Amino acid sequence: MLFSIVLLVFFLMSVSIIFHTIKLGISPMPSSSLAYRAIIEWLDNSSSKTIIDLGSGWGNVVIRLARHYPNRHIIGYELSFLPWLTSLILKKTLGLSNLTLHRKNFYHARLPKNSILICYLFPQAMQKINDKLRQETLSVNMLISNNFALPSWQADKTVRINDFYRSYIYCYQLKK
Ligand SMILES: C[S@@+](CC[C@H](N)C(=O)[O-])C[C@H]1O[C@@H](n2cnc3c(N)ncnc32)[C@H](O)[C@@H]1O
Repeated sequence: MLFSIVLLVFFLMSVSIIFHTIKLGISPMPSSSLAYRAIIEWLDNSSSKTIIDLGSGWGNVVIRLARHYPNRHIIGYELSFLPWLTSLILKKTLGLSNLTLHRKNFYHARLPKNSILICYLFPQAMQKINDKLRQETLSVNMLISNNFALPSWQADKTVRINDFYRSYIYCYQLKK
């Protein structure tokens, strides 16, 4: 009986992740530690008080950011239920009051003024973000993207990390 319940829960969890992966076009795969380190180097040299992860997944990046920057407000948007729930449990367990997690589509979010965006998405999503930023560019200071470039912006800084894919991390200074 217990085994059947565990099996059912596992099945429902898998269905939930697969459903959202197909719907959103990307799985909740976390950024690598090398990518995180490259991102943090640029964030250390920035002054914006608000950092937003567009698609915060299991919380790998936002949790670490909230601990690293106790005086900055970290925001994560995530639609996939289980990753979002996991990150919420971690936030509560660690008592991270500077972290806000929204279970919401980030395309519909109003981005706070002078914020920094970070993301690890896919080409079609970058095109949509590109279009959103064209409308909201005055409110956003900077965007850091793991792996995928913004189609109609020239990156101000680029770094190639030594991971399996030799990925690029792009940094766009949107407000000059
Ligand atoms: C590859 S993961 C990156 C996770 C995390 N940012 C990191 O770097 O470790 C991308 C996440 O974006 C989420 N996502 C994709 N489109 C979204 C949308 N429109 N609104 C909210 N979350 C979205 C996916 O569910 C997925 O968990």
